[in-house]
Amino acid sequence: MSAATRKIGIACGGVGYWQQRADVVVVGTGVAGLAAALAAHRQGRRVVVLSKASETATFYAQGGIAVVVPRTDDTIEAHVTDTLAAGGGLCDREAVTSIVADGYAAVAELVDVGARFDESVPGQWSLTREGGHSRRRIVHAGGDATGAEVQRALNHAADTLDIRRNHVALQILRDADTVTGVLVHNDDGPGVIHAPSVILATGGLGHLYSATTNPEGSTGDGIALALWAGLPAADVEFIQFHPTMLFDGNAGGRRPLITEALRGEGAILIDARGDSVTAGVHPMGDLAPRDVVAAAIDERLSQTGDPCVYLDARSVEDFQRRFPTVNAACLAAGVDATVALIPVVPGAHYSCGGVVTDVYGRTELTGLFAAGEVARTGMHGANRLASNSLLEGLVVGRRAGTGAAEHAANSAAPRATFEPVTRVALPRADLQRAMTRHVAVVRDAVGLTHVAELLETAGASELTTRAGFEDAALTVTASAVVAAALARLESRGCHHRADHPDLDPTGATSTHVRLQSDGTSTVTRGAEVCC
Ligand code: SIN
Repeated sequence: MSAATRKIGIACGGVGYWQQRADVVVVGTGVAGLAAALAAHRQGRRVVVLSKASETATFYAQGGIAVVVPRTDDTIEAHVTDTLAAGGGLCDREAVTSIVADGYAAVAELVDVGARFDESVPGQWSLTREGGHSRRRIVHAGGDATGAEVQRALNHAADTLDIRRNHVALQILRDADTVTGVLVHNDDGPGVIHAPSVILATGGLGHLYSATTNPEGSTGDGIALALWAGLPAADVEFIQFHPTMLFDGNAGGRRPLITEALRGEGAILIDARGDSVTAGVHPMGDLAPRDVVAAAIDERLSQTGDPCVYLDARSVEDFQRRFPTVNAACLAAGVDATVALIPVVPGAHYSCGGVVTDVYGRTELTGLFAAGEVARTGMHGANRLASNSLLEGLVVGRRAGTGAAEHAANSAAPRATFEPVTRVALPRADLQRAMTRHVAVVRDAVGLTHVAELLETAGASELTTRAGFEDAALTVTASAVVAAALARLESRGCHHRADHPDLDPTGATSTHVRLQSDGTSTVTRGAEVCC
């Protein structure tokens, strides 16, 4: 037990619990979490960062950060236009413009704390292209190891911060109007951190599925915590499947990503017969937005019955130096991509929706902020544009940290209380199997209803272990995703309904899901957000 931790004799399911205080608690240590923590720390606030897992999605990001670099042929307007086009009519133009416009300053700040990006000539970043981008505007590091460099630089900058490993945030504590703290589980058992500001930066939900590009901690925690706290999640039916996840038989869990930047450098997608997968599908071909390419692959696999398609990267110049991460993953799977085709399938990659926030990370609950993949700012709409995620995490993380620090500075120290709660959970393998079968690239009412009925059979879960908490988080997050997917009777962005294959021109409104006290979800449609 740490020196600052004391057990006190208050019953918590029959056990005492420890208590601490902070000004700002940040949940998560990826790009958004550490950007937020550093910003709050710079404001002189007592910041505690909670981390349940050693790996972040940031670390695994390959392609890069989409950013408009001054004095190039690129413009903020062009980046905004590309983002809106990818987002299927559901992006919030003002949110996109605000985040894109702040991108260069946020990346420059990252350079100030030590991040080093690849250069084409000394002093000039090397820019690549990815799906949906009309310009070369992706900065990258270590070839295809951008996330690792971003994480390294942020970890270094955050070295002196109070980062608590193996701490699982179990519940956001609130009174009627504001946040009062977080209920946490660590090696000492349950405890409360009393704090006026809490920032959710918990990442995504890829482990709703049997195979995903996400690290093992991506279990929908932040969406679950917000739903349990009575807040809405929006647009959670839009789960982005990356078109090219390495296919390695039926292996599940985290699977290697084959970065889209490879297609930006000339790799092509073909099926087992050597035919193009995207010819005639979209004017941008293999560099069409992700939802289009993933759906084209899914359709080709249904037509052919093949287990995978292939990425032909043999013509990519300087492949091993430019794409060392992909090269290593392929070699580990027995594929030498300089001479052989890379087997790929679409894989669960990114949650476009999430906890409803503004572009400063503020939620509807005073003192609660969310940033990064967990949040829905209006940036991504129905389908995120490639490499916009690190950008959003950096920009909104920084803003959320500053806002949370200011809120804490103006708040009296709260005293958090809590009632023991019961959560329900399905066995994880059952949940993942059902989501993979029925709620992946293409859905329909029959499959969605089957999963909804399965979710209703979830039994009480033990919240005293990380796995028990994650199973409960996955279950409530899946319920929200399924409810939203059932309610959206059209195909838009990365939500494809086999039984509603067309875009509904009246459907450009966000889906908001809230959890009711009886555990059911209610779905409402927000104001029209089409731009
Ligand atoms: C990729 O490198 O293809 C993934 C980048 C992203 O998810 O934006």
